Amino acid sequence: MRILVVGSGGREHALTWALSRSGDHSLMCAPGNPGMAEIGELFPVEANDIGGLVDLARREEADLVVVGPEVPLVAGLADELRKEGIPCFGPGKDASRLEGSKWFAKEIMESAGVPSARGEVFSDVASAMEYIGEDACRYVLKVDGLASGKGVFLPDDSVETHGILEELFAGRFGESGVQVVVEERLEGKEVSILAICSGEECVVLPPSRDHKRIGNGDTGPNTGGMGAICPPPELADDFRETVREMIILPVLNELYRRGIDYRGVLYAGLMMTDEGLKVLEFNVRFGDPETQAVLPLLESDLADLCYSAALGRSLPGSLSIRDGACTCVVLASGGYPVSYEKGFIINGIKDVEDAYVFQAGTSLSENEIVTSGGRVLSVAALGATLDESIKKAYSELEKINFSKKYFRKDIGG
Ligand code: AMP
Ligand code: GLY
Repeated sequence: MRILVVGSGGREHALTWALSRSGDHSLMCAPGNPGMAEIGELFPVEANDIGGLVDLARREEADLVVVGPEVPLVAGLADELRKEGIPCFGPGKDASRLEGSKWFAKEIMESAGVPSARGEVFSDVASAMEYIGEDACRYVLKVDGLASGKGVFLPDDSVETHGILEELFAGRFGESGVQVVVEERLEGKEVSILAICSGEECVVLPPSRDHKRIGNGDTGPNTGGMGAICPPPELADDFRETVREMIILPVLNELYRRGIDYRGVLYAGLMMTDEGLKVLEFNVRFGDPETQAVLPLLESDLADLCYSAALGRSLPGSLSIRDGACTCVVLASGGYPVSYEKGFIINGIKDVEDAYVFQAGTSLSENEIVTSGGRVLSVAALGATLDESIKKAYSELEKINFSKKYFRKDIGG
């Protein structure tokens, strides 16, 4: 097959690598990054250029398009490709509202009987404040739209809550801030689940856990993700099956009942509370950096799975998964996520032998790979145990150097 991967981050590099593993397919990437260029051909079309991507897929006779980021999915890329008869692994615009609207996701979960935090939607400060009352720290505020991972707030008191609400309704996120979901604050450990879905069927990939804060010990501001492990060690053997029965299938069925045929990956962000598993969020794409930790453990052919899902065909009853664990540590530019310099030469990528290097914020300058983003690359290592994979990831990442390199020292801890 000729497979086009849309996107340019670590997630897309890992996807391109996994799709190419069988050796049966030729890979194209738009726009891609220097790491992806070693596996596939790059085309300079941006991930949010819907028309440009459809033209490219048609011109290059893609048999399958695999979409990395959410923005083109919410904008309807999958629908446009399907209209042209090009199979797309990624849900259409209607299903992408699961990520594009927190309130839509809540409504679906309620109808499907899927457990999540109690919540209400508001469009002005006064009614939201009335609902919240005095105990502001028992609630979470969520912008009801795409906010690049920056739309969730956990304020400490009512003064802070009021300030955030005022800012949101004043248009800090533009259209996305017009409605705000106020949700009960849950406590517990988080787990990410990625399920490959083909209409009413799904297969669930091994569970993972990301580390969102910039600092060791989960301190400092949220980032796009500083590392991930797969699988979290404390989960029961039947965890994947439980999530499939309790969360993924009911959601797919509810969507199907509404005439929505979900073909792509469904990402469920879960919290393990004292009352059991609850859904924090859905995303309509693979997680980043979870994908970099999950895919090295997948032995089944990802291209076959994505192709079947894209065509709405039956999926296999089970997946082939390696024993052991994988740890992925992100190397970032010092100063990220606030401000950081770019353009530093990256040395040592080729010296990494016992781990995968997935590039993200990198570019080519005078034949050198240089830093060009906040999260520069990730190093993912397999091990017979989680501890072994952590040790290996940390020893291998020492081989890569660039000025102001920063990483968390406690991924998997
Ligand atoms: P989301 O984008 O909805 O996943 O939110 C980002 C992060 O905010 C999650 O990974 C959680 O750490 C936190 N979060 C979201 N919803 C809740 C909630 N209801 N209770 C506690 N923390 C939450
Ligand atoms: N790692 C969180 C996300 O991809 O949304």
